[in-house]
Amino acid sequence: MTYTNRPTILTGDRTTGPLHLGHYIGSLRARVQLQHQARQFLLLADTQALTDNVGRHQKVTENVIEVALDYLAVGIDPTKSTMLIQSQVPELAELSQYLLNLVTVARLERNPTIKEEIRLRGFERDIPAGFLTYPVSQAADITAFKATRVPVGDDQLPMIEQTNELVRRFNNSVGRSVLVQCEAVLSQVTRSPGVDGKAKMSKSLGNAITLGATEDEITKAVNDMYTDPNHLRVNDPGRVDGNVVFAFLDAFEPDVQKVDELKSRYRRGGLGDSAVKRVLNERLQSLIEPIRARRRELEKDRGEVLAILRCGTMRARGVAAETLSEVKGALGLSYF
Ligand code: TRP
Repeated sequence: MTYTNRPTILTGDRTTGPLHLGHYIGSLRARVQLQHQARQFLLLADTQALTDNVGRHQKVTENVIEVALDYLAVGIDPTKSTMLIQSQVPELAELSQYLLNLVTVARLERNPTIKEEIRLRGFERDIPAGFLTYPVSQAADITAFKATRVPVGDDQLPMIEQTNELVRRFNNSVGRSVLVQCEAVLSQVTRSPGVDGKAKMSKSLGNAITLGATEDEITKAVNDMYTDPNHLRVNDPGRVDGNVVFAFLDAFEPDVQKVDELKSRYRRGGLGDSAVKRVLNERLQSLIEPIRARRRELEKDRGEVLAILRCGTMRARGVAAETLSEVKGALGLSYF
């Protein structure tokens, strides 16, 4: 089989926790489709996860399997997509080392994503060097596989920009095109709101529904959702804006007409919170039920999951090693 005219796609997820519904609509769903059209690498970013999880490495390790289970449960097919563990491909660390010479500390400090993360983590001036430089290791992840497309959320756009800067600098400095520039692919529905109504679903904010969530967990999350505090009786007119249940219906109910009808009935009065919540609950249950079932099945054989990861990682190493030999050759680092 030849892939010559297919795009090469690379995605990455830090392994700090299992994936949730935000990941599902933001990226996982698309990856399941893309694996049929492209050569796709799915990177389990354990090394990157360590950049701000010093001392919590056990959590990072455990979550490699959790994220792999999520991938497989949503329908990633290991014969079509290559799943790899970042720390087990030493070529990625090696490439990062060369790319680090092509970026200044000032440029790294200007990366908007890094700036925001530094603020959120309260690092102030005590920034771990590995954290500050992770955009470079991310550039290595992408370029080692000569990926041409990188599906990301908008928070990752500065990473893609920085990757392409590094590619141009590298190719300029060696006087030939060794590395390949990539293009960010933004997902259509970029994010799911949190169950608390915050703009983004995120495990660290504690407002997520995981892909392995039980029936009761989903029901509880939906029942606890904030609606319109002034919508006291069924017949009162209600507000849809700022109403978390409707924000979720917008994100997860594909039948737009049905959502519009519910919204106008709610606005008019005559539609109770519990009825809307029932609709959302049914929608989320039927979305997660097959994923959870498949995940439970796969969990019974972790050895099999590890075998899949091992096989993907080996395949990925082969590809990365080829790039590295070109990179080192171009830098004059091939002596024997
Ligand atoms: N930075 C990404 C995240 O926070 C994970 C990641 C690591 C990644 N390497 C990548 C994403 C390469 C895209 C491409 O989830």
